[in-house]
Amino acid sequence: MAVFQSIRNFFVPTTIFEPEIIVSAPLTRYEIRPLTDKHLKEVLKLNLRCFKSGENYTKYTFSYLLNEPKTLSYRIVTPSEQIVAFVFIMTNMDGTGHITTIGVAPEHRRRGLANKLLRHTEEALRKRNINTVMLEVRVSNLPAQNLYREFGYATVQRLVGYYNNGEDGFLMVKSL
Ligand SMILES: CC(C)(COP(=O)(O)OP(=O)(O)OC[C@H]1O[C@@H](n2cnc3c(N)ncnc32)[C@H](O)[C@@H]1OP(=O)(O)O)[C@@H](O)C(=O)NCCC(=O)NCCS
Repeated sequence: MAVFQSIRNFFVPTTIFEPEIIVSAPLTRYEIRPLTDKHLKEVLKLNLRCFKSGENYTKYTFSYLLNEPKTLSYRIVTPSEQIVAFVFIMTNMDGTGHITTIGVAPEHRRRGLANKLLRHTEEALRKRNINTVMLEVRVSNLPAQNLYREFGYATVQRLVGYYNNGEDGFLMVKSL
């Protein structure tokens, strides 16, 4: 709980408002790789495209997460090394993991990339003897809730007014 309260304070309102026309990307191969500080700029740009309405992590939050030894972060790339998906997970001393953010480029969605990232995340956490994973999701974010539910996450709490715009969130948890 302490972790997600601290991360929550790093949210800022999104500043990009232009609508984007999404054209599905040509089918391609995808690979998962570690995400490091040298990818900061690219992941920041992708993050803005993923979280257009509501709130967004700042550059400083991403920089903090990328340099925090207890945080795991992965990217999915195309053969041309373009980052099309990312996930950040904080690991805690109490044996829990916390998915702080996950996003997939709009033109690469519904191809199992989030699924791939979550599977990879779980393997990485198991190797570190982490046996519980938690996350928060907006009550309005049905795609993400479907994803997590399908993956075995259960809603354990409604977080009233959790987001800065007053929207409630759900706390979802999974035992590994
Ligand atoms: C949520 C998100 C990460 C899903 O990424 P994705 O790569 O498209 O997801 P996947 O292809 O792995 O989908 C896995 C399952 O999630 C669910 N899902 C994903 N997108 C969905 C949608 N638009 N509507 C309904 N269910 C959806 C489905 O159950 C899907 O399985 P299916 O394709 O067999 O039906 C992506 O839509 C995204 O980046 N959204 C914006 C950022 C965001 O909301 N992140 C989560 C914050 S908590």
